[in-house]
Amino acid sequence: MKFVICGKGGSGKSTVSALIAREMASRGEKVLVVDTDESNFGLYKQLGLPQPRDFMDSLGGKKGLGERLMKFMRSEGKEKLSILQEFSIDDIPQELIVGEDGIKLVAIGKIHDYGEGCACPMGALAREFIEKLKADGMQVIVDTDAGIEHFGRGVEAGSDRIVVVIDPSFESVQLSEKISEMGAKINKPVCFILNRMNEDAAELSSLVDGKKVIGSVPFDRDVFQACLKGSQVPQLAEMKEIVDRLLAE
Ligand SMILES: Nc1ncnc2c1ncn2[C@@H]1O[C@H](COP(=O)(O)OP(=O)(O)O)[C@@H](O)[C@H]1O
Ligand SMILES: [Mg+2]
Repeated sequence: MKFVICGKGGSGKSTVSALIAREMASRGEKVLVVDTDESNFGLYKQLGLPQPRDFMDSLGGKKGLGERLMKFMRSEGKEKLSILQEFSIDDIPQELIVGEDGIKLVAIGKIHDYGEGCACPMGALAREFIEKLKADGMQVIVDTDAGIEHFGRGVEAGSDRIVVVIDPSFESVQLSEKISEMGAKINKPVCFILNRMNEDAAELSSLVDGKKVIGSVPFDRDVFQACLKGSQVPQLAEMKEIVDRLLAE
């Protein structure tokens, strides 16, 4: 299964991705986390892994990919953009993957320098990566950048399920509606995880489409500390039911 984790900036997408990955791995699932957020660098730390190299480096880097993208755009639809062939995890060069059996991590590409240009090449590559990767019994968790730009780029096309992380804010509630609409358009099931919850979980649940809520993650001090110190997130008991539902439905 391929799960795309999305939501508002700061809602907890990366944290929840790491928590889901840990819970799945503890059950013996093979998990591949795909970091498609070009701006933030923290996910590898939340997973307790070393920083991976950019996957984009294996394809001529941003410059090489950008040139292919420009050629495709100039062809005005006459050429097909095909960056990758169908592949499985074993086809990915070892130096571009970090992690052991259990949780592995690939990062599509990061912005490293001032003035290096837009992130379109990363977006195009993220879309193809998710579409062309054969899951082969693995659980693929795709952490995304904030908001809905990745929907515009079609990153969700190759996914099996869209998971929206909703924190207690009006913007998150609004975004959950927008993402549900877009999910319906591309025929992908959408579910919600409420994050950083305290006693307000019931109220937040009543503000969103409650049928889509598969669980809530509490505000947890150990999780907060791990995020602050850049260390691995702990395993949380509350993730059990959430992961049961992700794997079952
Ligand atoms: N369940 C949680 N418990 C405690 N703190 C959390 C929790 N989820 C997120 N946080 C806090 O919110 C911050 C932002 O989370 P992050 O996962 O980086 O958001 P996003 O990836 O959506 O931008 C974290 O650094 C952490 O401080
Ligand atoms: Mg993030």
